[in-house]
Amino acid sequence: MSTMTPCGVRLAGCGSAVPEKRLTNDDLAGMMDTSDEWIVQRTGIRERRIVDPEKGEGELSLATEALRSAIDDAGMVPSDLDLIIHASVTSEMTCPSNACRIIAALDAQPAGGFDLVAACSGFVYAMNVADSLIRSGRYRSIGVVGCDAMSTAIDYTDRSVSILFGDAGGAAVLVRDPDPNRGCIHQTMNGDGRSWPSLFIPNSPSDIPKDFSDSGARMGTLRMDGREVYKFAVGKFREVIEDALAATGLSVDDISQFVCHQSNIRIIQSAMEKIGLPPEKVYINIDRFGNSSAGSVGLCLDQLWKAGKVNEGETIILVAFGGGLTWSSSVWKV
Ligand code: UT7
Repeated sequence: MSTMTPCGVRLAGCGSAVPEKRLTNDDLAGMMDTSDEWIVQRTGIRERRIVDPEKGEGELSLATEALRSAIDDAGMVPSDLDLIIHASVTSEMTCPSNACRIIAALDAQPAGGFDLVAACSGFVYAMNVADSLIRSGRYRSIGVVGCDAMSTAIDYTDRSVSILFGDAGGAAVLVRDPDPNRGCIHQTMNGDGRSWPSLFIPNSPSDIPKDFSDSGARMGTLRMDGREVYKFAVGKFREVIEDALAATGLSVDDISQFVCHQSNIRIIQSAMEKIGLPPEKVYINIDRFGNSSAGSVGLCLDQLWKAGKVNEGETIILVAFGGGLTWSSSVWKV
């Protein structure tokens, strides 16, 4: 399965999964001191989906369903995959990786698999890694799935974070293509580890920095300095898109879709205004699904794909930023 002939990468299929259970702003207002008006105004979110553990749902089941639907969409079977890259911060266990459990659930052996942790940037990081591995000539087909069940890492007494997040998985199947100009034509994966306390999930009180003003939420749940992340994201979003355009020599007119992490509607709108991105090129679903962390970009990609808005020959840009802090871009010739 190895070839040194230059090759490209084809997006062969997309998939996604969201839980049935809806958590509306009014539901949250019944649990904590917040309101539908505050949440819509500050975030653009109206409702999000959350897993129901009583039905056996969790990150693993969502990620499995998302990838299964992408494999079906590609007209392949799970054992056609050489490798599965799973991006998440809410895997049920750290060992084994959920990638291995997805392989078991899909009966995809002997595919290899690993988990990748880059928070909300996870899906874009994973697409970049998968493209590079296929281009190396060692792998023919890779399943990428970004997924988070953020509701399992939220303390619903903490209004500063709980209103933002929802659960979702998005997936893509990538296969080797003879055209080296097809696939990811530019990628970046960056981070600033010094800023990690802006967004983290402590397992014990000793994980919390001394100068961090803690909400007192239970261990194993998300802490976020919303204002810091907001400031970082507004600047970085614009910078990442402008850098990707400059590096490829492309203009906004050359890009058919900007597939952006659904962090907060105000962050996306700020980038749209500053760069001059037309609304029809920036897909938004945060109103219905909230911020689903590593699930968000893959979910958008699948919804665009199914709507016939990502077509052969077109160029799209995937962009995300998140905990770490991390940020990433991926320019694709589809
Ligand atoms: O995927 C990447 C991960 N994260 C992000 O992208 C998050 C980026 N940040 C944000 O989206 C925003 O910072 C939030 C939506 C999280 C918060 O919005 P904000 O406009 O930055 O609010 P704030 O934290 O500055 O708080 C403003 C006020 C405060 O009250 P005082 O101090 O002004 O009296 C908060 O206590 O709003 C209060 N507040 C709330 N009120 C009602 C904070 N959360 C809530 C709430 N409902 N849920």
